[in-house]
Amino acid sequence: MRGAVKIAFGSLSAPKGGALVVFVGADMKPAPAIAGQVGDFEPLIKAAAKAASFRGAQRTTLDILVPAGLDASRLVVVGTAPGKDNAPLDFVTLGGFVFSKVTGAQKVEVAFEAPAGTWDAAAAADFALGLRLRGYRFDKYKTKKKEPEDDDAEAPEFVIGSGHAAAARAAAHGRFAVAEGVELARDFVNEPPNVLFPEEFADRTKALEKLNVEVDVLDEKAMGKLGMNALIGVGRGSARGSRLVTMRWNGARAKRAKPIVIVGKGVCFDSGGVSIKPASGMEDMKGDMAGAACVVGLLHALATRKAKVHAVGVIGLVENMPDGEALRPGDILASMSGQTIEVVNTDAEGRLVLADALWYAQETFSPRAIIDLATLTGAIIVSLGHELAGLFSNNDELAERLLAAGAATGEKVWRMPLGQAYDKLIDSKVADVKNAGGRHGGAVTAAQFLQRFLKDKDIPWAHLDVAGTAMGAPASDVSPSWASGWGVRLLDRLIADAYED
Ligand code: BES
Ligand code: MN
Ligand code: ZN
Repeated sequence: MRGAVKIAFGSLSAPKGGALVVFVGADMKPAPAIAGQVGDFEPLIKAAAKAASFRGAQRTTLDILVPAGLDASRLVVVGTAPGKDNAPLDFVTLGGFVFSKVTGAQKVEVAFEAPAGTWDAAAAADFALGLRLRGYRFDKYKTKKKEPEDDDAEAPEFVIGSGHAAAARAAAHGRFAVAEGVELARDFVNEPPNVLFPEEFADRTKALEKLNVEVDVLDEKAMGKLGMNALIGVGRGSARGSRLVTMRWNGARAKRAKPIVIVGKGVCFDSGGVSIKPASGMEDMKGDMAGAACVVGLLHALATRKAKVHAVGVIGLVENMPDGEALRPGDILASMSGQTIEVVNTDAEGRLVLADALWYAQETFSPRAIIDLATLTGAIIVSLGHELAGLFSNNDELAERLLAAGAATGEKVWRMPLGQAYDKLIDSKVADVKNAGGRHGGAVTAAQFLQRFLKDKDIPWAHLDVAGTAMGAPASDVSPSWASGWGVRLLDRLIADAYED
């Protein structure tokens, strides 16, 4: 649930009860400031380290219970010495890691001082972000109260003690805006499909209005008038109505600046439709709206931190179900772009939704760049597993920027190819294009399909296939839940680094 972790910034001080976290390198020496202001634990740490063969390496800890001479229940010594790969410390990851090592404590005092050199306010704010991201839980449907010794019991309260508390607190504002966006996206993805269907999803986006985001919801009638027959077609077999939501944040100094537009696939449940999926694992298809959830989370983050940019989110919300009214394989749909689409597989529904959402977004907002996120193909999981999202782009500069933002945030992307040879695999005998190109290169032909719906072929466009990263990815230091909220941090960083005034 959101906001589960309480984090405050203060000065370095001795804790009363609870756990104290200190950092050491290979020499087992905490920062000199700690000895001066909290206590000299070096002899204790050295003795305990020897007994436990603790060497101060990154991602290792030494947990000293009831430490002598200290009014704390635990002294948690965290290693910072670089490992074999000599990677620099990532403070977001470090925060997440430390969170996982203090479960059970009710109060945690973190003596946030570098054992060698200095850690600045930004580092402390990043550390706090990591604590929060790791502290996320989704337990609203659990009716039994947790025991304190359970792993998932109440999160501790943290005080981050630092020489730069005021600056760290200020820097944390922006970080927490992003954390809220991630949490929001995770909540959406974790929600069950009987609760979060398209209309409910659209209703929940209205909460962004409190942050001065303009939210506009189109129902099926309105979409019908605009000719969005591809999107509407996918929802035809569902008892739930489809929706298209636009969310607009106007934060750029220049009123007339062109916006960056982010489009999300919001399939609230993907049964496959008449081309129905196998039963095993089908429940995971409640997360087929993770692209749309990321867009909502991103807009929340941008508006909360008052980003100096015009940004628009456009999400297509549908449910893909088999029914007498549902799409059939063989159906031909007239999309908003005017192109006709032969539906050869009703399980290739995300691209139908995006075809109209992309066209609408371009026509309505004349974007300076357009990025879509979608849990689009199983094929991208075959290619890249759960580590990297697939990046497809017609623009090298945009692709480089996304690669850089990925490296900076840890939400990493891998560039995949596009090209004529792939594009011809989706030529249809009877219509302009068909919605699936066969088993080979499935993530690429899906991207080729989307590219056919660019109004201006040269508009900077990127497609992120997040099927492997947005849900069901293995838990990490910063992502404990089935839903990762993947993409919120990546795109927030991209916008901060490349698109804000
Ligand atoms: N939502 C799925 C893709 C998916 C698979 C997301 C696994 C997350 C985990 C998408 O709508 C789909 O069914 N794609 C098909 C396309 C095929 C029919 C051309 C696929 O990947 O098999
Ligand atoms: Mn599908
Ligand atoms: Zn799908």
